[in-house]
Amino acid sequence: MIRQTAYTVEPWCVREQTLDLDMLAQSESVFALSNGHIGLRGNLEEGEPHGLPGTYLNSVYELRPLPYAEGGYGYPESGQTVINVTNGKLIRLLVEDEPFDVRYGALRSHERVLDFREGTLTRSVEWTSPAGDSVRVRTVRLVSLVQRGVAAIHYEVEAVDRPVRVVVQSELVANESLPDLGKDPRMAGRLESPLVGEESVADKDTAVMVHRTRHSDLRVAAAMGHEIDGPEHTVTMDGFEDVCRYTVATRLQPGERLCLVKYLAYGWSSRRSRPAVHDQVIAALAAAKMTGWDGLVREQREFLDDFWAGADVELDGDAEVQQAVRFGLFHTLQAGARAERRSIPAKGLTGPGYDGHTFWDTESFVLPLLTYTRPEAAADALRWRHSTLDLAKERAEQLGLRGAAFPWRTIAGQECSGYWPAGTAAFHINADIADAVIRYYHATADEDFARDVGLELLVETARLWRSLGHHDTKGRFRIDGVTGPDEYSAVVDNNIYTNLMAQRNLRAAADVAEQYPEQARRMGVAEEETAEWRDAAAAVVIPWDKRLEVHPQNEGFTHHARWDFENTPPDHYPLLLNYPYFDIYRKQVVKQADLVLALHLRGDAFTDEQKVRNFAYYEGLTVRDSSLSACTQAVMAAETGHLELAHDYLGEAALMDLRDLEHNTRDGLHIASLAGAWNALVAGFGGMRQYTVRLSFAPRLPPGISRLAFRMRFRGRRLRVTITHDEVVYDLLSGDPLQIDHHGRPVDLNGGAVRMDVPPTPSRPTPAQPPGREPARRDKTAR
Ligand code: BGC
Repeated sequence: MIRQTAYTVEPWCVREQTLDLDMLAQSESVFALSNGHIGLRGNLEEGEPHGLPGTYLNSVYELRPLPYAEGGYGYPESGQTVINVTNGKLIRLLVEDEPFDVRYGALRSHERVLDFREGTLTRSVEWTSPAGDSVRVRTVRLVSLVQRGVAAIHYEVEAVDRPVRVVVQSELVANESLPDLGKDPRMAGRLESPLVGEESVADKDTAVMVHRTRHSDLRVAAAMGHEIDGPEHTVTMDGFEDVCRYTVATRLQPGERLCLVKYLAYGWSSRRSRPAVHDQVIAALAAAKMTGWDGLVREQREFLDDFWAGADVELDGDAEVQQAVRFGLFHTLQAGARAERRSIPAKGLTGPGYDGHTFWDTESFVLPLLTYTRPEAAADALRWRHSTLDLAKERAEQLGLRGAAFPWRTIAGQECSGYWPAGTAAFHINADIADAVIRYYHATADEDFARDVGLELLVETARLWRSLGHHDTKGRFRIDGVTGPDEYSAVVDNNIYTNLMAQRNLRAAADVAEQYPEQARRMGVAEEETAEWRDAAAAVVIPWDKRLEVHPQNEGFTHHARWDFENTPPDHYPLLLNYPYFDIYRKQVVKQADLVLALHLRGDAFTDEQKVRNFAYYEGLTVRDSSLSACTQAVMAAETGHLELAHDYLGEAALMDLRDLEHNTRDGLHIASLAGAWNALVAGFGGMRQYTVRLSFAPRLPPGISRLAFRMRFRGRRLRVTITHDEVVYDLLSGDPLQIDHHGRPVDLNGGAVRMDVPPTPSRPTPAQPPGREPARRDKTAR
């Protein structure tokens, strides 16, 4: 786990002041830079030591066989795994023939800073070689949010107290050897040398390498170009199949510096020829050089200034969470900013965990944040889903269903889950995609999107639900044999989350089809079909346990034996790594918010009293073995008046990676949890909901937070909501007047600040969690 003191607590950056070699892999994830297209782990420039080298390009993957002990019809035969592409981060340094390597000599000072406003990673070190020669090295790295194919490094080395001869080697390296990642099923399949060289050209200060993946047949090009500033020096360039090396040698007097700017460009294609991808990266490199280092830094800052103007969250009273929430916003933006019709993986492009796959995490946790802060990126992500619609239709057909069945986990659109009870059976992903479409449409009024993309996604997913469910003899619409978000119950009947989300999906499909009749007709939608969708939606089964007066997560759930929490040792969590699924499945134990997520996303389908009782019941069963749980529990704890508990869950979601709470940050960040922290604040303490077009808030703060202010974008407007314990100020920063709801009362925003009172919070006993699974307290003085 990352020590509490590993990073200083500051509002706008993550700063590390000592280098702990045992934590390299974690900090490589924390310090990763990405724009959604390129991802660079925070590896040290000199390449070694490393936890896990990582350079990723969105959707560049290799195929690998999925072997089964016992196969079955419809099981996917091959999986997709993200690969470590050509590494352009490498800059080695030799000081009087001694390689700069922090494991040797003396590291006199070390600092790394990830700056959320600059969008850069800065490293400053002073190192004395075993022979006693001292140098200062300062590097600044960025992955451009403006120029999608570009990254750059500003590298400076300075002699400290006596003249030294230095040699700097800037490299492009393909097929680096990777450490073994162990047996945890959540890690990536390791692939040896996935790239086959096609071209390596090195001339003067520029080199280009083109490789091809062996089985997935993707062509990857990487280029580097350089500028040098410093005393007299010599340069050489070498090029081999898997290595290109630009070498600069000079002699530095004390206080004298050699400065190197390294521009990197990446591109890939499944169709374009070798000369075409070669030219693409040369062109990107030329654009980067024309912008220059200072220009790239300036552009990055402007991009981020604009983002923060519509997205910042200020929080007084909990400095750690303040930092963590901005860290989460920054990484979520990095994951989605320039993904451009490619997927947003569960780990973003920060590590190889989960094989680089995209799950429902995107639509249900990441897109809410992006929809209200950077809607363009949310639309892009949904356009990516749309681009995979044909594959989803084929999958539905293979499963004997109509419409589209989107994959549980994938990189390029094909189902890659080999474990169907927590894979294909999790059909809710289709309603989650539909929900993200509806949310985006309601939050932006983007009619082009609704007509060209949204409608088809809604129609094909509605068709899936209509064929997956059936009307029973009483006319009720049942959806049997599916897995909900809680993966500790599998293949169940009438999972309430699934049924309610399917209901929303079916109704929205009918509404949007009626709004765009011409387009709908072209998709073969007739009036009878929309009527069928509405009938199914109206008759959807919502089980109810009369005795307990709670909603069972699915039919029969509350009749199962309770998990023996009392006799489960703390080190036996996560349960999935310590107990057989057969036993987990037949007990009342919840991996992650499921019914409680329904209370949030379909809050319009429950009474306040039901929310209170359901939340308390599921608190006692939820073990949070998934990082996707705490944020939702925070939202519903806040809505049901357990504000301190909500604060605790917010802390867990936000600090997931800065504190490595799940002990796997080394494989990449938990982007859904980081985005979830924003949901915990805005939907939790801000009480923001948008069940239809109308936006509503019900703000309330816990004792440990004295002020919360957040900005958001909504239908072409920018809003700021500032909450204290007594009052809320709504500011329409730009755009047309708007009516919202504040704790159920309409409020007109016409520009200028509108102040409203915060009603008192009902007092209720705090529900208990399974023993040992309580979230860590944020506010130690309260309760
Ligand atoms: C969770 C899933 C999630 C996946 C990727 C699993 O542990 O149960 O809901 O989609 O991780 O984050």
